[in-house]
Amino acid sequence: MVRCEHLELRNFRNYARLELDLPAGVIVLQGENAQGKTNLLEALHIVATTRSSRGAPERDWIHWLAFEEPLPFARIGARVRRANSTVLVEVVAAVGENGTGVTKRMKINGALRRAVDVVGQVKVVLFSPQDIDLVAGGPAQRRRYLNIMNAQVDPKYLRALQLYERVLLQRNSLLRLVRDRQARSDQLDYWDKQLAEHGAYVIDRRREALQLLNELIAEIHPALTADRERLVVTYRPNLGNDLPVEPLPPLAELSATILAAVQALRPREVAQGASLVGPHRDDFQLTTDGTDLTAFGSRGQQRTAALALKLAEAEFIRRRAGDQPVLLLDDVMSELDARRRRQVLAAIRSEQQVVITTTDLDDFEPTFLDHATILRVKAGRIERAR
Ligand SMILES: Nc1ncnc2c1ncn2[C@@H]1O[C@H](COP(=O)(O)OP(=O)(O)OP(=O)(O)O)[C@@H](O)[C@H]1O
Ligand SMILES: [Mg+2]
Repeated sequence: MVRCEHLELRNFRNYARLELDLPAGVIVLQGENAQGKTNLLEALHIVATTRSSRGAPERDWIHWLAFEEPLPFARIGARVRRANSTVLVEVVAAVGENGTGVTKRMKINGALRRAVDVVGQVKVVLFSPQDIDLVAGGPAQRRRYLNIMNAQVDPKYLRALQLYERVLLQRNSLLRLVRDRQARSDQLDYWDKQLAEHGAYVIDRRREALQLLNELIAEIHPALTADRERLVVTYRPNLGNDLPVEPLPPLAELSATILAAVQALRPREVAQGASLVGPHRDDFQLTTDGTDLTAFGSRGQQRTAALALKLAEAEFIRRRAGDQPVLLLDDVMSELDARRRRQVLAAIRSEQQVVITTTDLDDFEPTFLDHATILRVKAGRIERAR
């Protein structure tokens, strides 16, 4: 069972210094508001994904007081226990020598590594009250969901996504140059191919993921609701308006499909100075009995669908990667009813590491707490309650 067995924070958020042993099983992190509970989950999320769970820039990670030091930095170090080994993962955000930009460095066992090498050493799934935005919010939230999940189980996905995003930036600035007649349009040919190649892999993996997610959700969702609604997720890739989206061609033909769409749209892309086709415009739709939950779902339906997506994410990672993700539950128990609470707790496998934050231990059954490690958080310090 992969878990984070030790965490060391230096100048991370409101933790000036922290050394913390994290046992296997359930850990309940109890504390008043604004003491550092979510910050600790954020640190674990960064160890797993190199990215903030809040989408916060690296500068925000650094303790405010550290900015009075000559070279401000935040450091997160974790000892990850894997089946037959332990791995030291380190993520540092530091203000550069020139005092301005913040750069991020990652190490594994003391050696500098790239994000793709770090992501997935330990895997996490975060549950938070904001999860409802997965359903109620815009497509960017749903793409982020797909990205975090796929990147943790497939380094090639993360690599393709990184390359794709780089191509997109280059291509968009070239499109604007062409529009302003400062570049020739045939210079776009190279970037079109790059976009199609990396984009095809991303789309293919997302398609595959959504297929499995649908199967998982078909089992998970009914258990969350008393109604007999069936939740279905449908991939909505953006391949230009002129092309049918269903069925998507297999990976081998996908990049040609994207390329054709891109070339057909070139005049419009040049006019708008933006790339209009590709996985950066993807979405997926959530429906129950044909009703789009994003537009028409009740708050309760949206919340349930979001929870189903999250539980499916955990199961997806387990199936694809073979190891259990660490579950991070931020403040979610208090807002769930008894049925959904049971369902979340039922998803926890024995020995699986779970970190649950709460302000109030009364949110839990005493028998549940009997099997948990309880930690108290106060102003950036953590003590073991028992
Ligand atoms: N870079 C930073 N440096 C110092 N303190 C910070 C930094 N970023 C955030 N904080 C502080 O961390 C505090 C607690 O954050 P956190 O979100 O972890 O609280 P919490 O325990 O989860 O509270 P709640 O129960 O309200 O969710 C914030 O009030 C903020 O003042
Ligand atoms: Mg919080």
